[in-house]
Amino acid sequence: MGLYFKFNNMVEEILRTEHLCKKFGKLTVLDDVSISFAKGEIFTLMGQSGVGKSVFIKLLIGLLEPDSGKIFFNGEDITNASPKAWIEIRKKMGMLFQNGALFDSLNVFDNVSFQIREHMLKKTDEELKILVRELLMEVGLKNIETLFSDQLSGGMQKRVALARTIALNPSVILYDEPITGLDPITASVINKLIKDLNKKKNITSIIVSHDIKSSIRISQRIGLLYKGKLVALTETENLKNYKNEYLDQFIKGSINGPIETILEEK
Ligand SMILES: Nc1ncnc2c1ncn2[C@@H]1O[C@H](COP(=O)(O)OP(=O)(O)O)[C@@H](O)[C@H]1O
Ligand SMILES: [Mg+2]
Repeated sequence: MGLYFKFNNMVEEILRTEHLCKKFGKLTVLDDVSISFAKGEIFTLMGQSGVGKSVFIKLLIGLLEPDSGKIFFNGEDITNASPKAWIEIRKKMGMLFQNGALFDSLNVFDNVSFQIREHMLKKTDEELKILVRELLMEVGLKNIETLFSDQLSGGMQKRVALARTIALNPSVILYDEPITGLDPITASVINKLIKDLNKKKNITSIIVSHDIKSSIRISQRIGLLYKGKLVALTETENLKNYKNEYLDQFIKGSINGPIETILEEK
């Protein structure tokens, strides 16, 4: 289908999947997914619920292993990287989980500083305090170090999780449904943070989401997954000229088109 996007020489690739396949039992979730991500871009992979968006992101960060296909990070094949190698890779590739995944038993300070301590980056207590304060400021939070996650709103939890994600200065952040379940204003705040981090720190941002409007608004490129395949891929700038039945149907939310709406047990 010619969807395997090849960059011209001007664009530097940071991450690439090649013919990625993943099955669970008889269920084929991803079927030959090849995408090349550019350094510094915001890319959103869209698709209906259950289409394999989270699985895709988990493959990228090594929480799941592909059945076949390859993943390259900074030109290096990381598909079968050792657990030790993954620890190093995850310093450079952060992830924001859908539910934030803060540790309930830790306060904000300990949540945000967790990775720094985990990686034994030597800091004095005072240095750590300043760093956590700076990280919280990056996500628009102040004076909340002693609070626990059940004392935070959903939006604040997302921000704290984001502060924790950027603590190790990653060059890539993977976002799993970053605004799902948030009110529209908080969603805009989170979207703006994603954009600001991308701009200020040149963080490559790979988002999976089913939210079409914000995906189009904040991304340079969008892709669409359907039945395990990448069925659409375009720069948002060229969206108007991009003719794709799948994407058209998805954007319109229409029941008519190539995307089936009858669900059956297989
Ligand atoms: N660890 C797993 N074991 C078995 N099936 C899984 C597992 N993870 C995901 N799946 C299945 O893979 C499909 C895609 O899931 P997921 O990637 O979570 O979808 P979404 O696009 O909503 O994020 C679903 O049918 C889900 O049930
Ligand atoms: Mg998901």
